[in-house]
Amino acid sequence: MVAFTTLLLTAAALATGTSAYPTYPGVCDASLPSLAKVAAASSMGPNANSTLAYTMTSSATEYTNSPVTITVSGTGSFHGFLIYAANAVNSTKHLGSWALTSAQQGLYQTMDAHNCASFGAGATIGHLSATPKNFPVSFSWNPAPGMGNVNFWAIVVQGGATGFRSVKLASALVDPTNGAMVSATSTASATMPMASGSMAGMPGMTNGSMSMPTAAPTAASGPSNGARSVAVPVAVAVVAALALAVSM
Ligand SMILES: *[C@@H]1O[C@H](CO)[C@@H](O)[C@H](O)[C@H]1NC(C)=O
Ligand SMILES: *[C@@H]1O[C@H](CO)[C@@H](O)[C@H](O)[C@H]1NC(C)=O
Ligand SMILES: *[C@@H]1O[C@H](CO)[C@@H](O)[C@H](O)[C@H]1NC(C)=O
Repeated sequence: MVAFTTLLLTAAALATGTSAYPTYPGVCDASLPSLAKVAAASSMGPNANSTLAYTMTSSATEYTNSPVTITVSGTGSFHGFLIYAANAVNSTKHLGSWALTSAQQGLYQTMDAHNCASFGAGATIGHLSATPKNFPVSFSWNPAPGMGNVNFWAIVVQGGATGFRSVKLASALVDPTNGAMVSATSTASATMPMASGSMAGMPGMTNGSMSMPTAAPTAASGPSNGARSVAVPVAVAVVAALALAVSM
């Protein structure tokens, strides 16, 4: 019975492009070694990272403790799929967990039972069958606060001659509790509130825009001028801190 089921799934997969792994992805992440493994399972086709126009978007640019929706878009349908959140593509720890809708549970699964449990419980989602799935596809990700800046990686397998590719968010979701403080000491991150105007909490800002000997007299001389002269350095500091976070 088991063998018969496997045969059926394999036969279905041969037609659809995930015959090497019809019931789960054979990898747990989208690191280059994993992508090479997918490419080596020739039924999934070549790594078509320059020709398949798949994109990933998010419902938010930062996260705290509420769900964030991650959407993967493209044209046509796909067969194989893997998605996870992490601080780096090849991290050994995947972050947060995913809430599959009941409809999605027939097509996707957590990868805990398929060699990915060590990356985190419920933290990696993969396809469950080779059934063609339509774009766009959205998943609800549940974060825990304070995990640093988090990006998302997916592998989308169309299969056959077309192939597969990895896709990620253009910009990581910012962790507002410490995402802008990637080089701050732990003492600073524990004691500094991170309101966006709190430049004291931002590393590297203590010399330039932070020390504002002229801003205070200006502020005292008139409310409208004062508000503007303070707002500009704050904006510069925030942009600089974001650039620092992104470059890390
Ligand atoms: C893109 O695909 C080429 C082969 O088509 C592969 O050598 C390269 O590693 C891929 N890059 C990524 C980031 O997947
Ligand atoms: C991830 O990749 C980076 C850059 O190639 C490497 O320095 C690091 O050791 C890798 N980490 C793991 C856990 O493989
Ligand atoms: C402030 O400037 C001094 C002298 O240029 C430098 O030694 C110090 O590292 C700077 N501090 C920060 C936080 O940039």
